[in-house]
Amino acid sequence: MASKLAPMAFRSSSRALRVLARQQLRRSFAVSSISRSDTLQVHRDSPENNLDIPFTFNAQNEKLIEEVLSRYPSQYKKAAVMPLLDLGQRQHGFCSISVMNEVARRLEMPPMRVYEVATFYTMYNREPVGRYHVQCCTTTPCQLGGSDGVMKAIEEELNIHHGQTTDDKLFTFTEVECLGACANAPMVQINDDYYEDLTPETTKSLLKALREAAQKAGASGQASGLAGEAGKAEGAGGSGTTIPEQGRGYAAQGVKLPSPGPLSGRKSCENSKGLTNLTSEMWGKEKFRTDGALD
Ligand code: FES
Repeated sequence: MASKLAPMAFRSSSRALRVLARQQLRRSFAVSSISRSDTLQVHRDSPENNLDIPFTFNAQNEKLIEEVLSRYPSQYKKAAVMPLLDLGQRQHGFCSISVMNEVARRLEMPPMRVYEVATFYTMYNREPVGRYHVQCCTTTPCQLGGSDGVMKAIEEELNIHHGQTTDDKLFTFTEVECLGACANAPMVQINDDYYEDLTPETTKSLLKALREAAQKAGASGQASGLAGEAGKAEGAGGSGTTIPEQGRGYAAQGVKLPSPGPLSGRKSCENSKGLTNLTSEMWGKEKFRTDGALD
């Protein structure tokens, strides 16, 4: 009996394997950049990130640190490790080994405890990033909304792949998981700002405008950059870069930049097709009481 069943079992299993292999070949896979398992955890000395580069908080951040520390009992001041790392990153440009050590010193913590926090949270950049850190979300709602196209547009416009920085150190491009703006997918975070409801075209326009603003700022020796840095400007001059006109926006060095938020014309995450329910007359007290008792 076994001698009869064995060839049959072999035939049916090999057929199943062939079908499976065909299906696998037909599937298209999204390929993310390879991150070696030790990338996030390991520090390796480099010219811009080593123990010989000193770091101390500036006077402005010292004031902020004082305020942050006042929120915690003195014996629990290590609870302030995350805001202090953030301040250090903002001051230094990234969360270098010297920043982490200084935070450990200020909070009287073992440096390893600080490294553990800084390596766990991906918002701490432990390597230098460009002036504009473009983080593109590719989690499911953004992916369904077209983040593949946005990723491609960024790659084409910046001529780099995710995980890389442009040669002029202007842009760093990172692929990230959900940034919590799924109702306005697809979206990118650039430094502290969210740009949402993106299309490949608006993405490219945004990056072009940022580059143009930065180049003009570089030529004039002034600081420039994102909307928040540039400040609101009325009647921003045209620059040749096409940005969707929405009746709002900021100007940096005469280059009009869209203000953060949806670039589709939506104000927020309201239904883009307009009101579809609660369209009838609202019930109110006047429907039930006519004696004026509730007036
Ligand atoms: S999935 Fe992209 S913001 Fe949530």
